[in-house]
Amino acid sequence: MNTHIWTEKDISQGASLLLAGELVGLPTETVYGLAGNGLNPIAIEKIFQSKGRPSDNPLILHVASEEWIPRYCQNIPDKVWDLTKAFWPGALTLILEAKPCVPKEVTAGLATVGLRCPNHPLAQKLITESNVPLAAPSGNLSGKPSPTTAEAMREDMDGKISGIFDGGACSVGLESTILCLSPKPTILRIGGVSVEEIQLILGETVDISIHLSENQDKPLAPGMKYRHYAPQAPMTLVSGAQSAQWIASHIQVGDGVLCFQEYASLFSQHPRQVIGKEKDFSTQAQQVFSALRFFDQTPVQHIWSQCPEGEGMALAVASRLEKAAGFQIIHTEEK
Ligand code: TXA
Ligand code: MG
Repeated sequence: MNTHIWTEKDISQGASLLLAGELVGLPTETVYGLAGNGLNPIAIEKIFQSKGRPSDNPLILHVASEEWIPRYCQNIPDKVWDLTKAFWPGALTLILEAKPCVPKEVTAGLATVGLRCPNHPLAQKLITESNVPLAAPSGNLSGKPSPTTAEAMREDMDGKISGIFDGGACSVGLESTILCLSPKPTILRIGGVSVEEIQLILGETVDISIHLSENQDKPLAPGMKYRHYAPQAPMTLVSGAQSAQWIASHIQVGDGVLCFQEYASLFSQHPRQVIGKEKDFSTQAQQVFSALRFFDQTPVQHIWSQCPEGEGMALAVASRLEKAAGFQIIHTEEK
């Protein structure tokens, strides 16, 4: 293993590496990120290379507070300040008009840039100590589930970066919600902040434009068009009231199962990941990516998964599972 696991005492070394154009593993409350100096095109290029990320997929910038927004954005709508007051630091990325100082390598040539202020003490320290915005996509190889521990990130990035700061298991477990404000408020990815919470602060309904089916060809967040979060084995999502029973009667010997705690005993003979109780969506969010990663350590030929149903974080978890399954979904009887 060439990539070190670092702790808080290594922060100033991490900040120096960032300022020298190197990359480091960044713990945040959502998922771990692969961070580089967001103002340095050479560091940005390294991010794309290390992840194997398509160059038309822009990066978001991590800032220390809302006071940093005017450094990198212009024509900032007033609503932004209500949103930052309510959700920053936290799991909300705002898409705003970029100033010319933001490198085109970050925005992939778009006129806008995504900004997020992470709510994790180590992330905050790294940003303040280096005093530059950190460009950081999730720290997985492109297409793989996002890492929610330092060890999971090392599986994908070992030997590619010098170190990953260990900030413990991510408390949210899914990426941030991405919100674009103009021409009208639109959610481009559902994550750690729910649609309902955003609507409450804005006092209006927001549009949702996420990649909900394989037939929708141009999602507004470029990254949402790629196959994502996917374990090596093909996966089928089974939704509806009879999902566990349906899986139990169709599963083959050696297949894997991702299920809710209430149904775990049905699948004790199979490689199995239990992601929390059926209605405990925040635990499911914390568990889902490590559960998907688990199957790559097993010889399973196929994975069957239950799917949460409901509002709030249920939608966020379901959208990750739908993409992991490449939209192979079986609907059993409605509740
Ligand atoms: O929680 C998170 O957001 C994590 C942590 C590390 O902060 N980061 C993250 O970054 O998930 P990434 O690159 O894996 O996902 C960012 C998404 C991509 O789908 C990208 O296409 C979209 O944001 N995006 C970035 N800039 C954009 C822009 N200007 N307009 C629309 N979508 C944008
Ligand atoms: Mg990602």
